[in-house]
Amino acid sequence: MYRSLVIANWKMNTNLADAVFLTNAVKNKVGNFDIDVVLCPPSVWLVPMNEILDLAPKNIYLGAQNIWFVAEGAVTGEISAFMLKGIASYVILGHSERRNYFKETNELINDKVKIALKNGLTPIVCVGEAKKFEEKMSEKNKGRGRPNAGDVKADVIFELQETIKGLSVEQIEKIVIAYEPVWAISSSGEGPATGAYASQVIEKMREFLAETYNKSVSERVRILYGGSVDEDNVKEYIYQPEIDGVLVGGASLNAKRFIGICKEASGKE
Ligand code: PGA
Repeated sequence: MYRSLVIANWKMNTNLADAVFLTNAVKNKVGNFDIDVVLCPPSVWLVPMNEILDLAPKNIYLGAQNIWFVAEGAVTGEISAFMLKGIASYVILGHSERRNYFKETNELINDKVKIALKNGLTPIVCVGEAKKFEEKMSEKNKGRGRPNAGDVKADVIFELQETIKGLSVEQIEKIVIAYEPVWAISSSGEGPATGAYASQVIEKMREFLAETYNKSVSERVRILYGGSVDEDNVKEYIYQPEIDGVLVGGASLNAKRFIGICKEASGKE
C-alpha cells in the first residue's frame, strides 16, 4: 500500500504573494510528514514555487492544472507537457470544470494523458458522475449510500475507460486517478460524498482495472477521492482501504486548513 497522496488544486486563485506564502507554509510544516503532497497552482506561479521548493523535503511536488495535447506550436494561450519538464512532475487532466467550461471530451483528455506520460509528467486523471447515484437508486437501496453498479458503469467507468484508452500496463501504473463526483465539489454546494459511497465507486473502478489489465495493477494504481474534502472530514476517506489519498480544492487555499488535512492524512498508519 502506498502512503497517502494529498493534492492541492488551487484552481484560478491566489496572487504571487499568496502563492509564496502557501508554498513556504507547506514546505516548513509538511516536509517531515509521512505523505506525498502535490501543489497545483495556476501555471504562472510554477516557476517561483519551483525555486522555493528547490531545497524542500522530497515529499513535496508541483503539478500543473492543465496542458494542451501537443508539445509545441501555434496554440495561443496554452502550455505543454514539454514546457513543464524540470518544473512540475504532475498535471491534473479531465477536471470537471474543464469538461464543463471548455467542453473537453474524453478523447481530448486521453490525448493529453498520453502526451503527459511521454514527457515524464504524472497525469492526475479526474472522473466523476454529474448527479448523485442515490437519486437514481432503487427503492431498496435509497438512503444507504450504495451506488448502483450499472449507473457507476455508465458514468464513472465509461469516463475512465475512455480517458485511459490505449495505455500499457507500464503506463497505467504511473497515473493517478481522482474520483471526483461533480455534485460533491464545493462550488456545487451539495456537500461531500460519504467515505462509504466514494469507496464503493472506487471499488468498481478497481474491478474495471482488474478486468482490463490485471488484479495486481488494479491494486497498485493510486485512486484518490476529491470533493469538499476538509480538515474535519479527511479521516473519513483516508482510512478507507480503497482510497489512496485526497484531492483538495477550496480547503487547500488556507495554509492552516491544508496543513491540518496533511496532518490527518499522515497519521494514517
Ligand atoms: P473542492 O474542489 O475541494 O473545493 O470541492 C475539489 C476539486 O474540484 O478538485
